[in-house]
This record gives sequence, C-alpha cells and structure tokens, in this order.
Amino acid sequence: MERVARSSFRTSRIIGRKVFSYLRVTSTQDKARKFAQKGLPDGTVIIAETQTQGKGRLGRRWVSPRGGIWLSIILRPEIAPMEAPKITMIGSLAVAKAIAELTRMEVKFKWPNDVLIRPIAGGGFKKVCGVLTEMVSGGGPVNYIIIGLGINVNNRIPATLRAKSISLKDVIGRNLPKQKLLRKVLEKFDKYYSDFGKQGVGRILKEYKGMSAVLGKEVNIECPDKIIEGKALDIDEYGALIVQTDDGRKRVIAGDVTIVSKI
Ligand code: BTN
Repeated sequence: MERVARSSFRTSRIIGRKVFSYLRVTSTQDKARKFAQKGLPDGTVIIAETQTQGKGRLGRRWVSPRGGIWLSIILRPEIAPMEAPKITMIGSLAVAKAIAELTRMEVKFKWPNDVLIRPIAGGGFKKVCGVLTEMVSGGGPVNYIIIGLGINVNNRIPATLRAKSISLKDVIGRNLPKQKLLRKVLEKFDKYYSDFGKQGVGRILKEYKGMSAVLGKEVNIECPDKIIEGKALDIDEYGALIVQTDDGRKRVIAGDVTIVSKI
C-alpha cells in the first residue's frame, strides 16, 4: 500500500488542504477513518488508483480498477447525525457540476447517492458515480464524516454492471484528463461545503432537487424492511424523500429507488 504523494490543491480553502495519494489501498474509506481517528483535519482527502476492497452502500462491493477516481474526504462539520444526508448532497453536486463543466453532459441524481449521465446513443441515464457517506458520532453531534466518491472516469465497467453503470470514457469515446476532473471536483466540493457552513443547506437542496431524476416520477423503493411504491414528491431539508403512496405521504430516509416512469 505505497503512498505516492502528499500534496495540496492551492485553490482549495478547506477541501484538499492535505491530500494523500496511493497506488493501491483496500478502501479509501478505511484509510480515511484511521486518519480521522488520528485527528487529521476537516477536508483531508485520501485518493487511490485502485481499491482491492472498495465499499458501496448497504454493504455492497465497489469495483475500483485503474482509471477511475476513488477518493474519500474527512469532514468535521458541526452538525447532528440526522443532517449527514446533506453532506451526500454536497458530494453529489460537486461531482455533477465538475462533470457537467468539463464535458457539457447533462447530469442527474438518483436519490439518495447516485450521479447519472446518459449514453451518447440515447437511452436511459446510467450511474457514473456513487457517493458513500459514513458517520461517526458518540451520541451527540457528529464526530466526523467520511464521504467516499467513486467516479467511473476512464475505467472499464464489468459486463455484469453495464446495464446500470457507465464511465465517462464510454460516453466520450476517449480518456478524460483525470487530474483536471479531480481538481474540479475538489474545488466544487470546497465551494458547496463552505456555503453549507455559512448559509446552511437551502441553496444546495434547491440545486440538488433541480437535477433530480426521481422527483415527479413513479418510484419503487426497496427499504431495509419494506417496499414503498408511489410518486416522489419532494426531498426535505434532511435529505429524506417524500413519497405519495396509496396510504398517504411517506418520508423515506434510506432505500434503493427504481424509477418506474421513464427518466
Ligand atoms: C455506492 O454507490 O454504493 C457508493 C459507492 C462509493 C464508492 C467510493 S470509491 C471511494 C470510496 N472508497 C470506498 O471504498 N468506497 C467509496
């Protein structure tokens, strides 16, 4: 697990003040957690060329070959645990805006943590990035948060995942400058994160909702204990999805969404 560089992104104020880059790690999330426990500061970035045990949401594996951007950020916001989904929105927006600026692609979000783009040949949107927000708290305010961003940039998507996932290279037809995209993602993250610190989630939520692939659609949500069907109406200030079902309005805080009506 060789560390290849430690640098800083001069344009960033908080995010990327310290950057640790590795060729190979088990998971940047695990590395970040160890660093957080040692007291590394808000905004520390851990990035790897490959992960041998990349982690997805809900205990899933995250395939992380060379060519993608696999990174985690240590965050120490002064928030309550129930506000952690706001950080997921910040991560999603940072990635989406960076991709849109660099490629001019249309980017959308599938609640709660997927960033989507559309294959050039048309068809439905597919996942280009997943966001994993892990939080540690001792009962009171959040101690720290590790947000993981997995962006399919120039990597090959395994055949078994191609129905739902895609890389930027698949759409553009050539390799993208990964460092340039990384720099943009960190810059955008920095901007949204400091806005959040100063003004709260208002503007972030508005932008996030404006790019949602889910709002207004008929959805099927696989929750840990049940399946919820209905129309996605809104996302509240805590990042919960509000769904109109036959039994009234439901507030959903976690689940896997399938969009029944077309995006
Ligand atoms: C998901 O969509 O399930 C979330 C995927 C998050 C993957 C990233 S890659 C960098 C960081 N390290 C990990 O092990 N996982 C996250």
